[in-house]
Amino acid sequence: MNNLNDPDQPQALTPVVVEPGSAGAPVAEAPVLDPQPEPELLDAVPARFCCFVTGTDTEIGKTLVSAAILHKLVEGGRRACGMKPVAAGAELVDGELHNDDADMLRAAGNVNLPSSITTPYMLREPAAPHIAAALEGVTIEAVPILAAYTEIHAASDAVVVEGVGGFRVPFNDDFDSADLAAQLNLPVILVVGLRLGCISHALLTVEAIVARGLVLAGWVANTLEPDMRFMRENIDALEQRIPAPLLGHVPRLENPTAAAAAQYIDLAGLPGWHSPRVQN
Ligand SMILES: Nc1ncnc2c1ncn2[C@@H]1O[C@H](COP(=O)(O)OP(=O)(O)OP(=O)(O)O)[C@@H](O)[C@H]1O
Ligand SMILES: [Mg+2]
Repeated sequence: MNNLNDPDQPQALTPVVVEPGSAGAPVAEAPVLDPQPEPELLDAVPARFCCFVTGTDTEIGKTLVSAAILHKLVEGGRRACGMKPVAAGAELVDGELHNDDADMLRAAGNVNLPSSITTPYMLREPAAPHIAAALEGVTIEAVPILAAYTEIHAASDAVVVEGVGGFRVPFNDDFDSADLAAQLNLPVILVVGLRLGCISHALLTVEAIVARGLVLAGWVANTLEPDMRFMRENIDALEQRIPAPLLGHVPRLENPTAAAAAQYIDLAGLPGWHSPRVQN
């Protein structure tokens, strides 16, 4: 297989020793996580983990998979926070703008930061972000997103950033979601929505990720149609061609919660993650 990825582990996947008193260190009043993680789970999850979750298209399971990853991190005892930097489609609830993706990520994580940080661009119109932004007279820029990410990173052990739509969604005339992934310089996890045409979409996305010098850390197959013909063959074709590990195949779930999806994802294929210790 032609491995297009840099063999070196990306910085964000490498466990970082946090000095007490430093920005990333646990603070005395950090909430006690309940329930306490099993010791073997603590072994399995890296001390630090950050990733950018992209997908082959919109509505193919990025939020579900991002929430599942957050769920695993929380179960492993980490302070985990989701970020949806640009959300298009928000409604006022009790005087505050809410977006479904941002809400699901917040519920799956365990770090409570204002939504102005976890979603710096919360746009009302459910449309392409540059259009939704223009309607509000807003220009989506990199700097506020990078500044918000830095704050989240300082308050968390793990950050899962969900992209928008597919990999190359315009934000303004010369900044798109692929540029954002490159500026964040995070390892990328690709969610492939299984349907006819997904192989080409996935391979084009992989090319675009690698072309930006980003590390494709792994990919997840997500079932969109439970009775898709040749589903296994499609996954096999993708496995042969994607130069990164398949982290799981999520079936069509009756109740698509973070916990339910997490059962089908195994992050032990990622650097820094280990299979839970076998008890003697
Ligand atoms: N495996 C699954 N089983 C059942 N429902 C699913 C599954 N995957 C996704 N869904 C549902 O499909 C819808 C779209 O999924 P999701 O919101 O995760 O997609 P997305 O890629 O994040 O979309 P967007 O581009 O809008 O951010 C959601 O209602 C979600 O619950
Ligand atoms: Mg989403």
